[in-house]
Amino acid sequence: MNMAASHAQDRILHDAIFEANQSCQDAIKIYGADRVTNATIGVMLDDNGTLAALPTVDKIYRTLDIRELTAYAPIAGLPAYRSAVVDVTFANHKPDAYISALATAGGTGAVHHAIANYAERGEYVLTSDWFWGNYYIIAVETGKRLKTFELFDDELKFNLADFTAKVDELLEWQDRLLIILNTPANNPTGFALTDDDWDNVIDALKLRAERGKNISVLVDIAYIDFAGEPDVTRRFMEKFANLPENLFVMIAFSMSKSYTFYGQRTGALIGVTSSRAVIDEFEQAGKYSNRAVWSNINRGAQALLVRLQQDKDAHAQFVREREQFYQLVKRRADIFVKEAEICGLRIVPYSGGFFIAVPSDNPIAVCQKLHDDLIFAVPLKLGIRVAACSVSTKKIKGVADKIKFAMTIE
Ligand SMILES: Cc1ncc(COP(=O)(O)O)c(C=O)c1O
Repeated sequence: MNMAASHAQDRILHDAIFEANQSCQDAIKIYGADRVTNATIGVMLDDNGTLAALPTVDKIYRTLDIRELTAYAPIAGLPAYRSAVVDVTFANHKPDAYISALATAGGTGAVHHAIANYAERGEYVLTSDWFWGNYYIIAVETGKRLKTFELFDDELKFNLADFTAKVDELLEWQDRLLIILNTPANNPTGFALTDDDWDNVIDALKLRAERGKNISVLVDIAYIDFAGEPDVTRRFMEKFANLPENLFVMIAFSMSKSYTFYGQRTGALIGVTSSRAVIDEFEQAGKYSNRAVWSNINRGAQALLVRLQQDKDAHAQFVREREQFYQLVKRRADIFVKEAEICGLRIVPYSGGFFIAVPSDNPIAVCQKLHDDLIFAVPLKLGIRVAACSVSTKKIKGVADKIKFAMTIE
């Protein structure tokens, strides 16, 4: 007996991350938190295992007037927030283009609207084979499908050949294609496209756009503030100037990691185009989707970001605090990467972000084996995800060796 409509029947949310975390919580109950290494969590914990919160964000948030928290926000977002998001995202690397930002419920909301409005129903969205599982869920929820290209070639560099092959395959029968690239600090690998990779991607897409098909690219930058020096990690954005009008770029911005504001569910979808008509359409379609899905977005979080941008001293302090958080995650990741190198554990090239990935043919068995050492990581399709954001500097030591050993059972 099904009461749900046919498309919603048999839907069960399998979430490898939450399942792995649940096993870990069970182990903590038996062995105690000190003995257990939880490398499953996708938020930043300090070295005491407490959820890290940026002090200046905490301070400013508490000064907001109650009405700033409780009033409705405009459907597209507070104008000052929309403008601040553009400043924060591009910093010194704003391309010469029409640019507009629409407030969304986190980066997830931005991904949702991009897939909802820039892929045809029944058609494919393209992303890399190492991808954040929610892309698939959103594609299915909105009646789209997901196809992947191989992110890495044999030398673990960006696989341009497979990227273009998959673009061509889909454009053979689709007139429209949405591509999602999660870079820099890809989840789950920590990989980033280099500036040269970006040149190659844009050249390849320009060529395909010249043939008359409509191509949109969503760049998911959820972890950009944990990816390295801001002026370097944003340099690729300048390349989005003077694109053909049928090559549309969107950016998914999130306050979750950059402001440690995960649960406040605030982000933005940013459109970048050489065409006024395309940006007008983007604003209208986005507003429509906002109204339909959540009506409007958390006003307090938007007000917080605006306030932080306006208060020079607070902003400088906030940037310093975030830099410390970034350095902490980097220190942990550096330990893992170094130890992996020493013990000969092959990992995906890590250049920043919350996670490190270890390719494996049998990730579930390896993660199971790691439980013997009370280490909990996330088994994905192509390998194992280790969360440098949540494992303390002390506990991350030795994890690479343990994974290397667990892999001998593969
Ligand atoms: C790759 C990636 N993109 C986007 C998001 C969106 O996060 P949020 O919806 O919390 O902003 C996440 C969160 O885990 C993520 O891992």
